[in-house]
Amino acid sequence: MFCHINGNAGGNDGLLLRRFLYLSRDCTMPFSSNHPIETIRRWQDDYTQFRRDLHAHPELGLEEHRTAQRISERLTALGIEHHTGIAKTGIVAVIHGRETSPHSIGLRADMDALSMPEENRCAHASTVPGRMHGCGHDGHTTMLLACAHYLQETRRFAGTATLIFQPAEEGRGGGKTMIAEGLFERFPVERIFALHNWPRLPLGKVAVRPGPVMAACDYITIDIEGCGGHAAHPHLTVDPVLVAGHIITAAQAVVSRNVSPLDHAVVSLCAMQAGNMDAKNVIPRTARLAGTVRTFRPETQEWVETRLRELVTSVASGFGARATLRYDRIDPATINNAQQARFAAKVAAQLFGEENVVDDLEPSMGAEDFSFMLQKKPGAYLRLGQNSGEEQHGLFLHNSRYDFNDAVIPYGAGLLAGLVEAGLPLET
Ligand code: NI
Repeated sequence: MFCHINGNAGGNDGLLLRRFLYLSRDCTMPFSSNHPIETIRRWQDDYTQFRRDLHAHPELGLEEHRTAQRISERLTALGIEHHTGIAKTGIVAVIHGRETSPHSIGLRADMDALSMPEENRCAHASTVPGRMHGCGHDGHTTMLLACAHYLQETRRFAGTATLIFQPAEEGRGGGKTMIAEGLFERFPVERIFALHNWPRLPLGKVAVRPGPVMAACDYITIDIEGCGGHAAHPHLTVDPVLVAGHIITAAQAVVSRNVSPLDHAVVSLCAMQAGNMDAKNVIPRTARLAGTVRTFRPETQEWVETRLRELVTSVASGFGARATLRYDRIDPATINNAQQARFAAKVAAQLFGEENVVDDLEPSMGAEDFSFMLQKKPGAYLRLGQNSGEEQHGLFLHNSRYDFNDAVIPYGAGLLAGLVEAGLPLET
């Protein structure tokens, strides 16, 4: 049986909740044909093909020219107004509902691939050596496009849906650049939503929670300068390799001894350059370390930077060397607005079933540049299950054998469309 929601939700959202047809936990009949997930599922083959084409042709941030071309071609074919060239390769599509209203919702998907080799051997594996869609942004772009298709055909909302195809999420500043180029002045939105596929969640589940969901990401570079010389006469040198070793060890004390055990932080030193592998009897003059810091709270971020700076300089000077810390803040923490997270959870419950909405998935220490948009507009970042038992769908993001699960397309596109229909309900 189909069940109407007994709407006790307030405001605009409640209007649509009352109108939504949904399958209750006890129902065994299929969804209504009006259900966005079911409507979009009819286009599954077409969008699977589209996604796999993007996967085969991965492009790095701010270089997504082919990807942008494919998106623009589709939007043109669907008769959707869109604007290209924002942050080089970004695109914003604007769809008006069947009723006019001053209200608007933004939806954002990322477009870029990673600088890593793909180890999959499937027919749609990367054709570009050293480039891979290893984070599923090919799927995110495809889902936003399928959502655009659905919204343009049905237009069962009042006001404006603004669909943001964002380049360069992977550390190349796409979100920040779009905002700097006037994204929200040119395309005003009241609230904004984005989602990311999540291999640790089963297909058909969605996770959303208020507050922090992804960490702030900072990059650190430590340059150590000693005095090089003959390895057989170390007393005549200041060995930067030894200093680097002590800095690596000392840096690990910052989280364990300066950050509250109830807070969260990571300091990882991931790369080291010093000397020459062929010069086994030469102590080099310099050494360089590089890594990342992840935190959720700005106070913690500040404190970790302060302590690292103090440790790096004082450890080095204790050995007679000099060291400097370069500290680059890349992405702020991704913090969901409580009200918008609750709204998104309610919409997800109607579309996926209440038992499939996860509200206690732990925040990730990974970072996400949607955080810049959430600093400007209230909204929420959702994580969408993609694990259906196939190995490549359960491997975590950035694994060289990961692949986006095409079965997710109708779920993600339907959820994005559902946020617009529920957030911008028709009056009549
Ligand atoms: Ni990603």
